[in-house]
This record gives sequence, structure tokens and C-alpha cells, in this order.
Amino acid sequence: MLVRASAPAKLILCGEHAVVYGQPAIALPLHDICATATVQTGPPGSGAVLFTPDLGPTPISTPDDPLLALAATTLHLLGSYSAAVEMPDLHITLTSAIPIASGMGSGAAVATALVRALAAYGGHPLSAAQVSELVYQSEQRYHGTPSGIDNAVIAYEQAIWFVRQLPAPRIEPIHISAPLHLVVGDTGVRSATRLPVGEVRRRWQTEAATYEALFAEVGAVVAQVRAGLQAGDTAQLGQLLNHNQRLLEQLGVSSPELERLVAAARAAGAAGAKLSGGGWGGVMVALAPDEGTQAIIAAALERAGAAQVLSTRAA
Ligand code: MEV
Repeated sequence: MLVRASAPAKLILCGEHAVVYGQPAIALPLHDICATATVQTGPPGSGAVLFTPDLGPTPISTPDDPLLALAATTLHLLGSYSAAVEMPDLHITLTSAIPIASGMGSGAAVATALVRALAAYGGHPLSAAQVSELVYQSEQRYHGTPSGIDNAVIAYEQAIWFVRQLPAPRIEPIHISAPLHLVVGDTGVRSATRLPVGEVRRRWQTEAATYEALFAEVGAVVAQVRAGLQAGDTAQLGQLLNHNQRLLEQLGVSSPELERLVAAARAAGAAGAKLSGGGWGGVMVALAPDEGTQAIIAAALERAGAAQVLSTRAA
């Protein structure tokens, strides 16, 4: 028996960083790039073994890495393994086309594909909320203080409005009335999300009033973006994304490479452009007014040195 499951990359349209402090953010799944997990029955007595391009074969019975721990937790939850039940013989393979540390949620997507494939193999499909919660626990090991938006948008696979709050985050589907023509440009600079998240936390601890005012301004922009998405007003949305970029620069998470791509996109006719995700590297996103301009922006990003360019449509 062999089962396969995948999970999309994600794109934060607006509100990153401030979302960690309780402000709303909007995220979209990026179905064009995904992570995939396959689970098949392993040789008798092998136990569960995880194969990844980075780690090679690693037995799950000795979890010392977040993915292995997640696999063990998922198998426990499914009742496939416990103190009383021997670890099943499983051959698990993980692959991903999502560049790591690029702001596109590669860690959360790999983890989601893994949980889904184990659940499908066990014949116990899990709800999006259950998958999201399991992956969130795993993400905490990577990021320290993640808001939970990455695992949520990837597990729900739809555009979401996300607010981190207790006891559970508020997750609402977002209505997009006119399709968004987006261009994602990768700086090629890898930056683990926990690094800028940690730096913003340090700054917030020393200058709380300044940073809380910036977070609140981001939150106000995100609320206007939601209204703009409902109204289908691309020009207004572009201005709001530009405003969000200025605030991200003030938060200290932009970079010269990101700003070069943002400037190139705007010069090529983007309605607006900003970094997306953790920053300091990774990707930026531009909103094109139409399909023709989308292609012009993509070419401009390539000329400006983007390591990878992806044109996509969100509806
Ligand atoms: C990362 O995709 C988004 C951040 O806001 C971090 C988080 O929400 O956990 C930078």
C-alpha cells in the first residue's frame, strides 16, 4: 500500500510580523508549488523510517528533529503507535519544491504533507483544524513564537484572515471579488523566519510604544486590504501593499535585495509591491493591474536579479 499527500506553499499578502502580536493578517495558499509526502508499508521489522533529501533515512523511533517528533505524535494520535502498540513498518518519503527559508512556508508545508499522508495511510483523515494544530506544535520548535498563520493557511488551503488569540486563533475565509494577478520574486537570500521574528521581539521589548503603534498601523492597513479585496479595487490594494512595505521597513525586516525587487516591480507597472513572510531575504510579492503587466513585471524581476519568479492568480 502506498499513499501520497501534498500541501501548498503559502504567501502572506499583508500583516506579517504584526500578526505575532495579535494584529490581523491575510495569507493565500500558493498551489503552484508544493511539498509531497508518500507513505508505504516498509520491510517487516524495519519500524517507521523517514527519507528526506537532507537527512537521508532516519528511524522515527528516536525523534531528535521536529519532523520526526511530528511523525511520532501523529502516529500516536492515530493510534498506530503507543507504549502498547509497536511502531508500524513504514517507509515515509518527503520531497518539496518550495525553497527553504524563503518566506513561502516550506517547513509548514512539508509538515502538513507528512501529517496528511500518515493520516491517509492510517485510514483516519484528520480535519484541517487538527492538521493545523499538529503542525503548529511542530512549527513552534522551528520558530519559537510563530503566530500560527503559516500552518493555518496551508492546512485550510484557502485565502484566510487570521488573528492570533486565545484559546484558538480566529480564521475566516477571505472573499476576493476580482482575481489578483500576483508576481512573486525570490531574492535567493535565505533567511530563517525565527531570526527577524526574534529581532522584532527584542526591539518591541526595548521600545514597546513605538513598535505597538507600528503593529496597530499594520493591522489598520490589513483591515483596509480586506475591504479592497471585497471591492475588487486593485489600485487601492496596491497603495495599501506599498504602505505595508513602508511599515515593514520601519519594523526593520526589509533588506536591500528585497527593496531592489520591490522597486523593479513598481517601475514595471505594479499597482503595489512588498516583501512577504519573515523578510531579511526570501520573497516579495507584486500586485499587477492585469495579465499583460504581470508578464512585464515578471521579466523586470528577472532582470533585477531575482533567483526565481512565479506568476500566479489568486481568486
Ligand atoms: C511568517 O510567514 C510570518 C511571520 O509573521 C511570522 C509568524 O507569523 O509566525 C513573520
